[in-house]
Amino acid sequence: MSIKVKIKDAQQAVEHTLNHYFEQQHNTDKKIKEATHYSLLNGGKRLRPFLVYATGEMLGANRHDLHVLAAAIECIHSYSLVHDDLPAMDDDDLRRGRPTCHIVYGEAQAILAGDALQTLAFELIATHSFSCSAATQLKMIAHLAHAAGLEGMVGGQGLDIAATDKTICLEELERIHKLKTGALINSAITLGALCSENVDQHTLDNLAVFGYAIGLAFQVQDDILDVEGDTSILGKPQGSDLAANKATYPALLGMLGAKEKAQSLIEQAHTALNNINADTSTLAALADYLIERDH
Ligand code: IPE
Ligand code: IPE
Ligand code: MG
Ligand code: MG
Ligand code: MG
Repeated sequence: MSIKVKIKDAQQAVEHTLNHYFEQQHNTDKKIKEATHYSLLNGGKRLRPFLVYATGEMLGANRHDLHVLAAAIECIHSYSLVHDDLPAMDDDDLRRGRPTCHIVYGEAQAILAGDALQTLAFELIATHSFSCSAATQLKMIAHLAHAAGLEGMVGGQGLDIAATDKTICLEELERIHKLKTGALINSAITLGALCSENVDQHTLDNLAVFGYAIGLAFQVQDDILDVEGDTSILGKPQGSDLAANKATYPALLGMLGAKEKAQSLIEQAHTALNNINADTSTLAALADYLIERDH
């Protein structure tokens, strides 16, 4: 099965879980439920859910458990995009090929939709009956919370805003990218692994090296696509970083330097996978795909 077909498979699986949640009756305001649904079920690539499934299945996790973790991580990611697009942040009006949440529903509803998606992620994990132990369930909740928070995605977004209109060094840019994007990507992989209860520390350590390498490569490629991509294929505005004077890899290293950086990170990712005693071929194919992608 090609990597694209496997990604499609993960998309369908996670969307089935997310749709099921929204088909239930909720005692809430119709508009905020609609804005939350709009922000989530809207054609994302679902790469983080894919990583949950690929890692978990590689290590023998229960698929019902993976459905919940995949849905949860996509909720956190989608919330981060809704807030990232707000006028106070990147001020973008196109996301996943459609007007951004605040353009359709207004800023207040978009802020609330992001909040609702964030809490939904934790509700999903906390209320599921996992086949692994309650201690592992707590560990997974803590991992995701940490990756999403001050020392993870939110921390990175804070640094990204602070670096706008400034010249920063490569180390600082790497720190921003690892936090704002790498932390959640790494968490998707770690959650898939933790859920397979007999995973050993050596595997977890190498998966963490792999996760940070592809997480950083993913954001470097995102920066490259902001310059070289096509709005209609990206589903978000090409040139947004330049217009906002954002700190990016192409801005700091030039386009060739950025592409070499992405390539060398993917090589590091492969080295980490080679240290793992399992069939890592799906994760290896994903790593290559991440820097070949056009959206
Ligand atoms: C975009 O993420 C934001 C970044 C962290 C670079 P994706 O490229 O995964 O966006 P979707 O989910 O497919 O829309
Ligand atoms: C986004 O980085 C990172 C998060 C949403 C956490 P970008 O601002 O580069 O993402 P896009 O390009 O808008 O998707
Ligand atoms: Mg941003
Ligand atoms: Mg943005
Ligand atoms: Mg970007």
